[in-house]
Amino acid sequence: MSVNGKKLSNLGDLSRTHTCGEFRPGHAGTKVVVMGWVNRRRDLGPLTFIDLRDRAGMVQVVVDSERSPEAHSLAKSLRPEFVVAVEGKIVMRDADKMNPQMPTGKVEVIATRIRLLSDAKTPPFEIGSEKANEDLRLKYRYLDLRSPRMQRNLRVRHEVAFAARKYLDRQRFLEIETPMLIRSTPEGARDYVVPSRVTPGSFYALPQSPQIFKQLLMVGGYDRYFQIVRCFRDEDLRADRQPEFTQIDIEMSFVGPNDVFALIEGLMAEVCKPQGVEAAGPFPRMTYAEATRRYGSDKPDTRFGMELADVSSLFADSDFKVYADIVAGGGQVKAIAAKGAGEWSRKQLDEMTALSRTYGAGGMAWIKSSPAGDVTSSLLKALGEDRVRALLSEAGGASGDLVLVVAGSASVVAAALGALRLEAGRQLGLVDPKKFNFLWVTEFPMFERDERANRWSAMHHPFTSPMDEDVERLESDPGSVRAKAYDLVLNGMELGGGSIRIHRRDVQRMAFELLGFSEDEARKRFGFFLDALEFGTPPHGGIALGLDRLVMILAGEQSIRDVIAFPKTTSASDLMAESPGPIAQEQLDELRIVQRSLETTTDPDD
Ligand code: AMO
Repeated sequence: MSVNGKKLSNLGDLSRTHTCGEFRPGHAGTKVVVMGWVNRRRDLGPLTFIDLRDRAGMVQVVVDSERSPEAHSLAKSLRPEFVVAVEGKIVMRDADKMNPQMPTGKVEVIATRIRLLSDAKTPPFEIGSEKANEDLRLKYRYLDLRSPRMQRNLRVRHEVAFAARKYLDRQRFLEIETPMLIRSTPEGARDYVVPSRVTPGSFYALPQSPQIFKQLLMVGGYDRYFQIVRCFRDEDLRADRQPEFTQIDIEMSFVGPNDVFALIEGLMAEVCKPQGVEAAGPFPRMTYAEATRRYGSDKPDTRFGMELADVSSLFADSDFKVYADIVAGGGQVKAIAAKGAGEWSRKQLDEMTALSRTYGAGGMAWIKSSPAGDVTSSLLKALGEDRVRALLSEAGGASGDLVLVVAGSASVVAAALGALRLEAGRQLGLVDPKKFNFLWVTEFPMFERDERANRWSAMHHPFTSPMDEDVERLESDPGSVRAKAYDLVLNGMELGGGSIRIHRRDVQRMAFELLGFSEDEARKRFGFFLDALEFGTPPHGGIALGLDRLVMILAGEQSIRDVIAFPKTTSASDLMAESPGPIAQEQLDELRIVQRSLETTTDPDD
């Protein structure tokens, strides 16, 4: 058969004997059949060279016009991304022709026969090129998937998931699937909803996580459950967030936090080792209060210091009214010292000030100390040189350093200064990319205040157990109640989160009440779950790890899109399949959905 003048073949009885990437000198003399994509073709007089690529790697094929004229004439017509089968023999290359850059570079295939299995249009970008635009890579994802980078990343992903399954199986966990079409459960983000055809006007939600179901499995007696499971959240997206992502989800009965920590430390050691990362437990632990106090973050990057210093006492009774008032009003003044940044430019400081404002800070003050010890500061006029010097040293700064100061409520100071710390650390090159710092952050607050809605909301989720010693303050002082909740942090990224759950009906009812669910509402939304708690619920707890984030870090990538075969953009769309997309009127009718015109922006309630 001939297509566009090219003779295309089927496989027929041809059978692949080897993959391209596996050839080493030991294969010399072997007769082989290899199949793959043409990466590159070069014609040198009577010889044509083809770099043939498959998932395992690349090998050089040599086609000689004298020895194999038919194969040679076909070889000369090959272009990048054509798919071919090559029959031939492995030979050693001459010493001066060896390519140390290629794992197969000491040998080559001398072709006797070539079959063209498929031709290809010119690809819209060079496969594997770092310069390829990401949108284009996503639109033609199947081409991008051929790149060594994506091949490596998806292999790492497979290895991590496979190692996790093997480890958890050895620890006597069962992998159990939970439904994807569920009733909406509150976990913080918006649900993706699916209309029901059979019950018009009713909707399923796609799970934000299998939280309720894994707890019900504990009630059902499956005391060690895990699932590598897809979760769906309609939330604002970033480099480490996708609308659908994968969790290694775990739940156990009759356990406390230490049991969960030990299990996960073992899991991390096992999945990280094959990727060349040492994750020897026990991992350090830090309470939420300490993490936010020292690093301004509940997921501190502990690969470098530059900790926050509380300098409030310097201002408590000072005549510098702005800061004195903030301290008197229950706020804080905190500072960080960036070593060796005493010469930073005005522009750099302006950028840092702008960054602090995005976290709600009114502004940022600074002190610069030259290597000779001269100080300049945005606070010089207000404080005078002596107090500026006192502030410099209280913040941990010395000659040659830069001190950044933020004042405000504890949460604003932590968020702003935490972000300034990370940015300064990045600019000063303090982050060692070879370090892998795991950290447990524990004792999260049970509730956070939603000031706009004037109510409490669950910091983790509404099924999280309060700490035993704080239960009695549930009603009198909910803001001070700590939860048996923990996060696993790796290099400043939240890798996982979990908690010991409420297994008592009375405590769960109290938690719902505090969260503003009336008995009636709670019954309506999760009556089945409250019922289950009354039928012999074991104490239980668990955790979920973000598989995409873990693989991203292990693969050394900056975005989880690069470790997902078919990811979505930050606007939650699939550029290749063009989803989301419209559906047919017939489908809408069947679901009894009437669409409002997209041009109509007026609220129907107006
Ligand atoms: P949580 O909401 O903390 O806990 O999620 C657990 C982990 O899942 C990952 N993750 C995400 N990864 C990519 N894109 C997203 N949009 C995204 N959202 C979360 C993070 C996070 O740490 N049911 C509880 C777990 C439990 O209590 O056992 C839960 O889902 O790495």
